[in-house]
Amino acid sequence: MCGIVGIVGRNSVAPQLVDALKRLEYRGYDSAGVATLDKGRLNRRRAEGKLINLENMLQQDPLDGTVGIGHTRWATHGAPTQNNAHPHFGDGVAVVHNGIIENFSEIKETLISEGVHFTTQTDTEVIAQLLASLLRQGKTTHQAMQQIMQRLKGAYALAVLFANDANQIICARNGPPLAIGHGDGEMYLGSDAIALSPFTDDITYLDDGDWAVITRDSAEIFDDQGRRVERPRSKASSAYAQVEKGNHRHFMEKEIYEQPEVISHTLAHYVDFSNGTIRKLPDEIDFASIESLKIAACGSAFYAGQIGKGWLERYARLPVEIDVASEFRYREMPLPGNQAALFVSQSGETADTLASLRYCKENGLPIGTIVNVRESTMARESDVVFQTLAGPEIGVASTKALTCQMAVFAALSISAGMARGVLDANQEKAMVRALSEAPRIANSVLNLIQPQMESLSRELSKYNHVLYLGRGSNYTLALEGALKLKEISYIHAEGYAAGELKHGPIALIDENMPVIVIAPHDRYFEKTVSNMQEVSARGGRIIFITDEDGAKACKLETMATIVLPNVDEFIMPLIFMLPIQLLAYHTAVFMGTDVDQPRNLAKSVTVE
Ligand code: AGP
Repeated sequence: MCGIVGIVGRNSVAPQLVDALKRLEYRGYDSAGVATLDKGRLNRRRAEGKLINLENMLQQDPLDGTVGIGHTRWATHGAPTQNNAHPHFGDGVAVVHNGIIENFSEIKETLISEGVHFTTQTDTEVIAQLLASLLRQGKTTHQAMQQIMQRLKGAYALAVLFANDANQIICARNGPPLAIGHGDGEMYLGSDAIALSPFTDDITYLDDGDWAVITRDSAEIFDDQGRRVERPRSKASSAYAQVEKGNHRHFMEKEIYEQPEVISHTLAHYVDFSNGTIRKLPDEIDFASIESLKIAACGSAFYAGQIGKGWLERYARLPVEIDVASEFRYREMPLPGNQAALFVSQSGETADTLASLRYCKENGLPIGTIVNVRESTMARESDVVFQTLAGPEIGVASTKALTCQMAVFAALSISAGMARGVLDANQEKAMVRALSEAPRIANSVLNLIQPQMESLSRELSKYNHVLYLGRGSNYTLALEGALKLKEISYIHAEGYAAGELKHGPIALIDENMPVIVIAPHDRYFEKTVSNMQEVSARGGRIIFITDEDGAKACKLETMATIVLPNVDEFIMPLIFMLPIQLLAYHTAVFMGTDVDQPRNLAKSVTVE
């Protein structure tokens, strides 16, 4: 998704704007630009591709001015060209925008009929030209901003420079997040706290419908009725300031290896390891009394939800219905009786998941969110927040956030099982003990399999198609494995329920498509081995991910067998996620793709 920054400063702001944009690179982008106001004139530099191109441009042709805005663009309307890069200009107006204006065509036609000339294909230029048109009609900057907020339909986070006022930036939010950073004689604007971390950790998040006027020493916030409002100021997590790769080649590699630590931090938030019990959870969702639970999420967060569904149904006997949020939000499902809704999101800003949350909230359900960004929109709109303590996840491909989401689900399942009288104290202690082992086992597994995964990935990178198979929670791991491989290596991959092989996918099996089978020695093992035999009988090449007992029990010839230690069935999904992540990561490294910012992808999909 696009990233926005703005500074009303005391010195030349262009270098600071680029510094802030660098902190937003993780969101994914394909062009970038900055604009400043200097001696009453708006000037800009824009470049295709990575930020280094913009930096080089600014070194050759610097920008002066102590107030400015910047943008990293993830193309929605119009190709990722320099001409389509933000900031976009109208007479006396510069605009950067994150989101999609759904009615931009009709506004554009009206402006063209009034003689306005457009130079780009973007919806953002329509905003700039509309503001310029309102100024020409004699509106003040504040009136113009308020009017466009009534006029624009769709999702937007905006920052606007007006040539007639060198002491302000006006911004607005309706959907994608926007944060104000309070400085000492300077004021900042950014899409999130990470962008502002080089300057301040004193943050105010705008609410949907808010617009604000920021000057060097003030931030006046107004609601969609134009009423002055106050929004809470909070301290951003200090972790944002230390977001570096360390000695890793990529953020994704660092985040894979951070998992033992952050899973442990997350579990400690929910589990009293000394007593072997789950800590008392907030009671906004009463797991003892609800008859069912709805879950909605996207991508890897959805897979965490699927694992959570399995645990909640098995260990708490709680019926769970789960759907991808992009489907959930439009089903308009009836929500009768005593149920609750739980949303899973690393960013807490994913548009489809947020819309699903709002649908359930409007229907009176208690709302819970499992989220990594505490000050995110979803967190602020939930009745209860079950936070993951993964720290900032920069790699676009989710790894540590996903396993931390699973860790929260594991704790919730035990807590719900106890509350519903399904689990007793001894079972609680046994499951908590298994959970307490997970970080240590994860750490040893990562070190154990790293060399094998790196060499196997070299082999896997030669193929164009890969099939992942599994049963039960291993089916979900198969889906996540396929997602990870395709989103960072661009190799086509598909996850399938192993039991479905004979219902179609077996037609694909030949030596040109490796089949990755995820099969610890659990209650599905024998059935899955039968599927492996069906694959092998047709010349299929198998990568077998199993445990010590599984390796002893199945002697099929394979392309490779990855043997993990035997672990308690409860924590198998957490441990078996690790080879899947490493396989995708190293394959992408061999493929030479942009592992942390894969093409076309964004870290947080804040538009539909
Ligand atoms: C995961 O590897 C993907 N990058 C993507 O599917 C992601 O999980 C999805 O967009 C949901 O994001 P969220 O957790 O921030 O809501």
